[in-house]
Amino acid sequence: MKLDEFLRLNAPEDLARISLAISDAAVTVSETFPFKSGLVGDVNPSGDSQKAIDVYSNEVFCDALISTGLVREVASEEMEDAVHGKGDLSIAMDPLDGSSNVETNNPLGSIFGVYSDPLPCSGRHLAGALYITYGNSITVTLSFGKGVHRFVAVKEGAGMSFQLVGLDLKVPDEPKVYGIGGTRTEWIPPVRGFVDSLEGRGMRVRYCGTFVGDYNQVLARGGVFAYPELVGRPRGKLRVLYETAPVSYINEQAGGYATDGRRNILDIEPASLADTSPAYIGSGPLLRELERLVSSSTVRTGA
Ligand code: F6P
Ligand code: MN
Repeated sequence: MKLDEFLRLNAPEDLARISLAISDAAVTVSETFPFKSGLVGDVNPSGDSQKAIDVYSNEVFCDALISTGLVREVASEEMEDAVHGKGDLSIAMDPLDGSSNVETNNPLGSIFGVYSDPLPCSGRHLAGALYITYGNSITVTLSFGKGVHRFVAVKEGAGMSFQLVGLDLKVPDEPKVYGIGGTRTEWIPPVRGFVDSLEGRGMRVRYCGTFVGDYNQVLARGGVFAYPELVGRPRGKLRVLYETAPVSYINEQAGGYATDGRRNILDIEPASLADTSPAYIGSGPLLRELERLVSSSTVRTGA
């Protein structure tokens, strides 16, 4: 089944139109990867170096979303302030996740949270979420509160269409892979201890450096992706509105659990658009165990 038909049958009309606008824009963005990998010598509001492709993908997705007439605002990791439209939905997006992978041709991604309320607000106000992975294929993984479904781009005539390849995806309870951002010496002690135990349980490390690429492996195989609390960086690195809340929503719809170490990521009330939080996301039983360890430990520094 194709994405447009699936959405017509399974999603509210506004979310269907937004999803189609995002999917078409993702194809446009991916076509420019080979041409746009030079630095423009600027930094984005969160301090990462910004590349031409970051600027370009931000513009393509922003224009596509505003043109639907359905969005009140689009906030983006690449912009200090939101862009406003005339609709009722708020979009928070990371238009090009893992952009340091452009040169190395490792996977890239795009992440979108569709919120019913004005931003900033918690993930409890998500009406839906989507992420794109640009890997060996372009895939769209989405949820509107009724399970997680995946589509892959295939050539159709002169353009592309998206075909259903995964219906009601579930993150396995039995964990097989882990990927942890930051460096081992920066991880707070309970995280270090927990990660040290994982290979003894038969798990393998998988880390590609793109949040949604790494999360995608966890969704397929079970396990954990984390960008943890770091010694000296208690709020971690990943952004709540643009990155961790939308992926946590999808993960929860897939039967998993996501925590900031103390509470469900969906309960975080960000005070500003760019707020970050530690993030631990993946299989339910493993993540509950990790949350217990992190929340009960008072040790936050040193070896
Ligand atoms: O968006 C930030 C990001 O690029 C994520 O996609 C990725 O998970 C993380 O940074 C990688 O960070 P580090 O290089 O510190 O492991
Ligand atoms: Mn990102």
